[in-house]
Amino acid sequence: MNRLNYLIRYLRHILTARHSFGFGVHSPAIYSFVKYVLYEKNSFYVYSEIEKLRRELENDQQKFYLTDFGTGVDRETTIGKVARRSLNNSKYSQLLYRMVRAARPDTILELGTSLGISTAYMAKARPSAQCYTFEGCPQVAKIAAGNFDKLSIKNIEIIQDNIDNSLALFLEKSPALDFVFIDANHTSKALNHYFELIIPKITEKSVVVIDDINWSNDMWKAWEQIRKHPQVVSSLNIFGFGILFFNTEQNKMHYKLIF
Ligand SMILES: C[S@@+](CC[C@H](N)C(=O)[O-])C[C@H]1O[C@@H](n2cnc3c(N)ncnc32)[C@H](O)[C@@H]1O
Repeated sequence: MNRLNYLIRYLRHILTARHSFGFGVHSPAIYSFVKYVLYEKNSFYVYSEIEKLRRELENDQQKFYLTDFGTGVDRETTIGKVARRSLNNSKYSQLLYRMVRAARPDTILELGTSLGISTAYMAKARPSAQCYTFEGCPQVAKIAAGNFDKLSIKNIEIIQDNIDNSLALFLEKSPALDFVFIDANHTSKALNHYFELIIPKITEKSVVVIDDINWSNDMWKAWEQIRKHPQVVSSLNIFGFGILFFNTEQNKMHYKLIF
C-alpha cells in the first residue's frame, strides 16, 4: 500500500474508532485491559535499557548479508537500516511488554524476530516464561542472539528457519501457547496459515497479537477473517496491532480504538 492510502486508512481509523478509555467499552475485562494496559502511562526501567540498544542498532553501520523473506531479494545491507525500517516502534513494543506482564504467560511464541527488540520486551516482561521466536535469516538471527546476551536475557530460544517449514513441526511438541505475536510474512495467505496452525494450541487464557493489520488490503482481509473465527471471543483493532482474546466468560465484542 502506498503512503497516501495508508494515511487515508489511518484517518478513517481515527474518525471511526472510540477515542479514549471509557468511551463505550462495555465488557469489564476489555475495559480493564484498555485502562490498565493499553493506556498505562508509567515508564518501566526496561524501556530505557532496550531503547538504548535500539539506538545503538540504528546507528550501526556494520554490513551483513540479508536473506529477505519479505521481498525475496537477498542483498547486502547494514544493521542500522534493518533497525530503522523493520522493527515495531517503541510505543508498540512497550505495549507488548505491558500485555505480557498483564497476561502472565508461561509460553510466548513470536513469529518474526528480526533484531530481537520486540522479543526482548516480551521476554523481560515475564522472565519465568519460555519465549520461542522464529527468524529465517541466519545473519539476523545471529545479531538477535547477541542482543539477548547484551540484555542478559536467558528465557529466549531462537528457531532459525523458514516458518513455513518449521512452525508445524515445532507445534507438534509445543505446550499450549499463552501469548503469541505474529510479525513475519505480511500476506493474508501466510497469516491465515499461521493462525490455523496455532489455533489448536490456543486456550481461553491465550492472547494473540497480529502486527500490521492495516498494512495492506490483503492483511486487512486476513484480519477480518481471523477475528470472526469461532474460537475468538473479543478483538481490538488499535490500527498497528490486532489483538485477540479467547476467554468465553467475556461477551463477544469487537472494538476499534485509538492508541
Ligand atoms: C517485521 S520483522 C520483525 C520485527 C520484530 N518483531 C520487532 O518488532 O522487533 C519480520 C521478520 O520476520 C522474518 N520473516 C518473514 N517471513 C519469514 C518466514 N517465512 N520465515 C522466517 N522468518 C520470516 C524476516 O526475516 C524479518 O526479520
